[in-house]
Amino acid sequence: MEIRASLLEWYDLNQRDLPWRRISSSSVEGKDGYDEEESERRAYAVWVSEVMLQQTRVQAEVNEMWAGLGYYRRARYLLEGAKKIIEGGDIFPKTVAALRKVPGIGDYTAGAIASIAFKEAVPVVDGNVVRVIARLKAISANPKHSVTIKNFWKLSGQLVDPSRPGDFNQALMEFGATVCTPLSPSCSVCPVSAHCCALSLATKQRSAQVTDY
Ligand code: ADE
Repeated sequence: MEIRASLLEWYDLNQRDLPWRRISSSSVEGKDGYDEEESERRAYAVWVSEVMLQQTRVQAEVNEMWAGLGYYRRARYLLEGAKKIIEGGDIFPKTVAALRKVPGIGDYTAGAIASIAFKEAVPVVDGNVVRVIARLKAISANPKHSVTIKNFWKLSGQLVDPSRPGDFNQALMEFGATVCTPLSPSCSVCPVSAHCCALSLATKQRSAQVTDY
């Protein structure tokens, strides 16, 4: 099975029960026509949660971050952004291009809101996504360099599933946070191990070492 389908299938079976997913599951699809109010409520929930969770693995470190200065800075950005939207006529921006104009909303948050709340087929790139793609494609370039970061956005954009972009982006992040972890990843239960260039290189190196003896 291709990478996209395997990751989505894995996500459907393994996704964690996180608060904003409950809102997004009572989705516009289940209703006749498009419910703008519902979708904006979902967008605000995604916005707040993504700002809180950015660059985390949705684990204990969130508490540490909220206890520190990060909390105040993030809360201030949220408030500033929400005020700007209301001042501008209270029309919630629904695309990455429009969301990027809101103060405090960067590429990551814009991609997350547009894909999860409004189904725009755009990528998100955080530390988890970088690690997963770097391993799948055996990219060893420094992920802190701007050229490399640009490349990850491009690759992630090519990978995103156009019919379920929000689920796919969350699947990548969730998979990075729980299976393709920084130290000792769970390759034996990985749904995309057959496509993983890093695993295949490591396996070849190991067998070369064994035959050397
Ligand atoms: N980390 C940050 N946002 C996330 C999301 N929406 N799903 C999974 N992991 C995340």
